[in-house]
Amino acid sequence: MGVKENVPTPHIEAKRGEIAETILLPGDPLRAQFIAEHFLREPVLFNRVRGMLGYTGLYQGKRVSVMGTGMGCPSMGIYSYELIHFYGVRNLIRIGTAGAVSPDVHVRDLVFGMGACTNSSYPSLMQLPGSFAPICSYRLLRRAADAADRMGLAYRVGNLLSSEMFYGPAEGADSVRKWASVGVLAIEMEAAALYTNAAAGGVDALTILTVSDHLLTGETTSSAERESGFTDMMRLALEIA
Ligand code: HPA
Repeated sequence: MGVKENVPTPHIEAKRGEIAETILLPGDPLRAQFIAEHFLREPVLFNRVRGMLGYTGLYQGKRVSVMGTGMGCPSMGIYSYELIHFYGVRNLIRIGTAGAVSPDVHVRDLVFGMGACTNSSYPSLMQLPGSFAPICSYRLLRRAADAADRMGLAYRVGNLLSSEMFYGPAEGADSVRKWASVGVLAIEMEAAALYTNAAAGGVDALTILTVSDHLLTGETTSSAERESGFTDMMRLALEIA
């Protein structure tokens, strides 16, 4: 599917060409601002619609963008669709936090989402004659693993759950144990929509997470630990951008 002509979109006010081919996607728009202001040279703001701040700048001479996505599959679905189909973005790298469910994953670990199970209807709304398996881009996953090895960062690679619910039974111990029993590493809320849109648009996507809490052991991180974990993840994402 080619790039559609009508920009700006309902949710992004950038002009054609203002968004780089590679974009980092934190859920929180203030994280996008932080990354732009601390890691990019000459950052230019391209979006303020709904406060979903987006910037384009240079990282080690490469043009890269960063924008918030909000929380959940519907919000990720809107932004990733518009970036792919209206702005020609080709590499979408989500960075975020997750709750661990596997006993082998601990707080502060980096997790690369190879696949994303979901209790969201997002993939099934593509109306395929069966259930779609949302997976990441092998090319980006390989780049991320190589960069993490070079940087001396430990990571886990595996399946995620993109959940529709942050509070309630879908996050309860019974549910969490069932997902852990089929090898799911961690729960977040957006990867399944990102991977579905990237696959349908013929572009590359990856989700990189730092584990902020453990949903079975109750292990948690301090805000200082979350901050330094986030910094490692940002550097890694920028390395593969
Ligand atoms: N559930 C969903 N998303 C999350 C969580 C969680 O427990 N922790 C961080 N992101």
